[in-house]
Amino acid sequence: MRIGLIGAGSIANLRRRAIDNTSDAIFAGVFDLDPAKANALAGDARVYDSADALLSDPEIDAVTICTPPDSHEDIAITALNAGKHVIVEKPMANTLEGCRRMIEKSRETNRILTIGFNHRYFPAIKELKAAIASGAIGRLSYVRGFTGHTGLSEFKSPWMYSKDVMGGGTLFDNGIHLIDLVQYIMGGATSVYGQTTSAIWQLDRVEDNAFAILTGKNNVIGTLHSSWTEWKGYHFCVEAYGDRGMARAYYAPMQFSLITMEKPGGRPIRKRNFYLPSILREKLYGWEYTAAKTLSEEIADFISLANGQQPVGPIAHAEDGYRSIEISNSIYHANENKCSVQLTQSI
Ligand SMILES: NC(=O)c1ccc[n+]([C@@H]2O[C@H](COP(=O)([O-])OP(=O)(O)OC[C@H]3O[C@@H](n4cnc5c(N)ncnc54)[C@H](O)[C@@H]3O)[C@@H](O)[C@H]2O)c1
Repeated sequence: MRIGLIGAGSIANLRRRAIDNTSDAIFAGVFDLDPAKANALAGDARVYDSADALLSDPEIDAVTICTPPDSHEDIAITALNAGKHVIVEKPMANTLEGCRRMIEKSRETNRILTIGFNHRYFPAIKELKAAIASGAIGRLSYVRGFTGHTGLSEFKSPWMYSKDVMGGGTLFDNGIHLIDLVQYIMGGATSVYGQTTSAIWQLDRVEDNAFAILTGKNNVIGTLHSSWTEWKGYHFCVEAYGDRGMARAYYAPMQFSLITMEKPGGRPIRKRNFYLPSILREKLYGWEYTAAKTLSEEIADFISLANGQQPVGPIAHAEDGYRSIEISNSIYHANENKCSVQLTQSI
């Protein structure tokens, strides 16, 4: 599959690396509003002088959209209309209506539309999901998640904390990965209650912390906290509790721990995985090593989908992107109106 990139910033450079490391994927060219960035990323590949030029090129089979979120919808719809399969970076778009239009277009054109929720591919998250699926922790009761970084000192551009561009604050940034993970591990969410605070950075219309309770099928509960004031630096954690144990995925560094028991309160059996080879590679090559590896697995799944095959990994579909934005917006609604919000049943 010949894949083009729209946007040539940080994530696009990792995407380029991931494409190069994925069999059956060929990097076919790039467009960025900033030609210097496009040229720096392109190497020997083609640099296009507009998004339309790239999207109308029959040599391109698929695109990855790596631009700020307020441009995702327009680019995705043009790409789908041109017959391309599309991966959109998170957040899917800055409005729920935009996500809806993107899904409708992908159905109408019968093209694949997936969302860059690469955290699903983190080895510790995969182990956690497998621990639930195997029954190791018994019947799932609740999932809790945290994600945080230091907020403004992390951002290199003001659009990254602009309501108009991003669609929200921490929930649309690091939180969107966590929302996706918690509801994916819960097995889906049906209603949401939440609160947000913006007391620390005091930014225009965007929260610096958000807290939510999700209700899922079979009364599984999910809680989550997303933060831009995690002074210890970037990390996230997702835990799943069942009636016979618990599983915990943590990053960074990547760690997985599992406690199992024969009955509630029984003798705990503990297992831990520290992923030492990955930790060593991150020490040598930076956090980008893990990100590029997960992106490569995601692209392999994307190619399978486009070829009409079953993906081997947990690729996030457009509907998952929609659900994550719906949950974010529902947390804002709950915060303003002090009520819980029912999520749409089918997307
Ligand atoms: N999956 C992840 O964990 C992850 C990590 C980082 C960023 N992202 C997402 O990726 C997207 C890009 O983030 P980034 O950190 O790479 O930003 P960035 O600022 O490093 O790069 C964005 C690039 O897009 C270009 N651009 C802006 N508007 C454009 C347009 N309309 N057409 C073509 N090019 C345009 C800019 O010139 C810039 O080079 C965002 O949606 C962000 O949330 C995802």
